[in-house]
Amino acid sequence: MESPFKADILKGKVALITGGGSGIGFEITKEFGRHGAAVAIMGRRKSVLDSAVSSLRSLGIQAIGLEGDVRKKEDAARVVDATFEHFGRLDILVNAAAGNFLVPAEDLSPNGFKTVMDIDSVGTFTMCHAALKYIKKGGPGRGTSSGGTIMNISATLHYTAAWYQIHVSAAKAAVDAITRSLALEWGTDYDIRVNGIAPGPIGDTPGLSKLAPDEMKIDLSTDSRPLYKAGEKWDIAMAALYLASDAGYRKHNWPSDPFV
Ligand code: HXC
Repeated sequence: MESPFKADILKGKVALITGGGSGIGFEITKEFGRHGAAVAIMGRRKSVLDSAVSSLRSLGIQAIGLEGDVRKKEDAARVVDATFEHFGRLDILVNAAAGNFLVPAEDLSPNGFKTVMDIDSVGTFTMCHAALKYIKKGGPGRGTSSGGTIMNISATLHYTAAWYQIHVSAAKAAVDAITRSLALEWGTDYDIRVNGIAPGPIGDTPGLSKLAPDEMKIDLSTDSRPLYKAGEKWDIAMAALYLASDAGYRKHNWPSDPFV
């Protein structure tokens, strides 16, 4: 699809996307790359990473795949270091890695609950924490005009209540809290923009095929979906692209302490 944005809006930027090998994460990665960014994708499955990287490179995108599990702080540190070593900077972190399955609360073991909390929420914080030293200024000593940006992909399940998603709802609520806290602290201290994107049901994703298998097909003709369709990965990628670009931010011109 033709992009509404100029092709070079992320030129010179480097992005690291967790869960960037499939679904929404891959779409964001592809659009960042098509708009000039060099991209590193992180995931647990080498075969998924390999196939995503080859498809990105076939589009002329500078891309690398880095195996790792966001639950492990050693993996997080290794992956952010490797991204910086390979591309020489790190401007954008997108936390799109997530775990999910449908299960009634009664049948969910505490370890199943913890597993999704660990991937979605602890993993998001772990990646942000590991990447901070590079994202602060696009890299140590780089002196770019502003700090970089972080985007956390959340959901809308926890705004009300969703059947068989207690673990994911709790995890995504925590992701939203992490987003707000980091936006406050790191925005103030380092000029880093921390934003959340909360997709509703998005078609053609591993998440939707797990959460709405054929036997529970979502009725898209109801007026609970005003556009009579599920969202598209493209919609999310365009929102991410806007937030990552200079269009998403106008640096303040305060000469000194703005609160004086
Ligand atoms: C019940 C389950 C389960 C299931 C795992 N567990 N799958 N419980 N039903 N289907 C329990 C296990 O029994 C175990 O608890 C614990 O969870 C850990 O399981 P493991 O298999 O050892 O964990 P792991 O290999 O780390 O895998 C975790 C995983 C992950 C969450 C299952 O592999 C996964 O889901 N990957 C898919 C990624 C995915 O779908 N991404 C899209 C997300 S979409 P016990 O007690 O037995 O030890 C998304 C969108 C949300 O997030 C919003 C949509 C609208």
